[in-house]
Amino acid sequence: MAGVISADDLRRRARRKLPRFAFDYIDGGAGTEAGLARNRAAWLGETLQPKVLVNSDRALPTERSFLGRRWAMPIGIPPIGLAGLAWPEVDLILASAAEAAGIPYVASTPATVSLERLKSAAPTSGWFQLYVGKSEEITDDLIRRARDAGYETLVVTADVPRPGIRLRDVRNGFSLPLKATPRMAADLALHPAWAIRTFRAGAPRFANLERYAAPGTGAQSLAKLMAGQSSGRLDWTLFRRIREQWPGRLILKGVTSAPDAAQAADLGADAIWVSNHGGRQLDSAPATRDALPAIRKAVPEDFPLAVDGGLRGGEDVLKALVAGADFAFVGRPFLYSVAALGAEGPTRYIETLAAQLDNAMAQIGWTDLDRSPRDV
Ligand code: FNR
Repeated sequence: MAGVISADDLRRRARRKLPRFAFDYIDGGAGTEAGLARNRAAWLGETLQPKVLVNSDRALPTERSFLGRRWAMPIGIPPIGLAGLAWPEVDLILASAAEAAGIPYVASTPATVSLERLKSAAPTSGWFQLYVGKSEEITDDLIRRARDAGYETLVVTADVPRPGIRLRDVRNGFSLPLKATPRMAADLALHPAWAIRTFRAGAPRFANLERYAAPGTGAQSLAKLMAGQSSGRLDWTLFRRIREQWPGRLILKGVTSAPDAAQAADLGADAIWVSNHGGRQLDSAPATRDALPAIRKAVPEDFPLAVDGGLRGGEDVLKALVAGADFAFVGRPFLYSVAALGAEGPTRYIETLAAQLDNAMAQIGWTDLDRSPRDV
């Protein structure tokens, strides 16, 4: 089918085009990466039941309502920190692509473009993701800035009490600020196009945090400031406080346990985002596919649930909806898409996802996503 490009192809191309440390930062997971593989394997092991003789002789409506808005399809772009390693200011490219396509885009705390600029690029589609850092002052200020910039949806990430131990990064000597080891220099020499593009634009930076650093602060102190943004300070008391502080919709991201989900719903979360950070935190965490059914049972029947982790195509997304999610997010392939195809990549990948969704819907006779999969 013309124009369809699979996530696997994008990944293969991205691997060739990116220096190894940058590809590994995006592609890798925690520990042995069994958790990363488990996320993917769980969706691959799932089947969808074809259903024949359902008239689907039209473009099928892939729209879905989620958190008070109608989206073009039940797929969004999750928060991705330091995405500028894939392409300069890729955050802006992703935000604009999501806005144009009518799907959500989540600006991350460690984004390489400021949350204010990202909201301008995605005025109706942009959400903000918060890491609760060691500094109460910075955390409160980020929440205030998000509100002032016009964000209506805040995503609080729960699954980073410590940064994950990612062995590829350790082996590659990848740390911030970037230190040019001999191996890294050789890696850069093999990828001159990436090196020129990236360093001409200025090395990727933590755009949301710069204002909290002392004037003239070097990359070293900024990196330290960012390290302080993953803290173990977030607990239920603080979550309750954020609920009181945030007037808009609040999502708790990074939940894989049914009791945690029930508690978040009780405390006033508007949605739960079932996620294990794409296998980047606890290597032994359950696959999100496997965590989903118990969470579905633990919260009220219509309680909004999103899921991510290892979803790579339209069929996977339908499996996620059948398994109890209302919405799905796809992470790494968006960065592969830009590394592989340049600034057009994300839009091409969104078109692919839409085509795959329509195709799979026709084959399983689920011709309108507004209907429950149980009624198909
Ligand atoms: C992430 N993720 C993430 N999550 C978050 O809440 N804040 C963040 O800043 C980041 N940063 C980040 C960087 C990179 C390079 C990756 C790959 C992931 C997790 C992300 O939002 C999402 O949960 C996973 O990417 C989903 O899994 P898949 O689709 O990548 O398998």
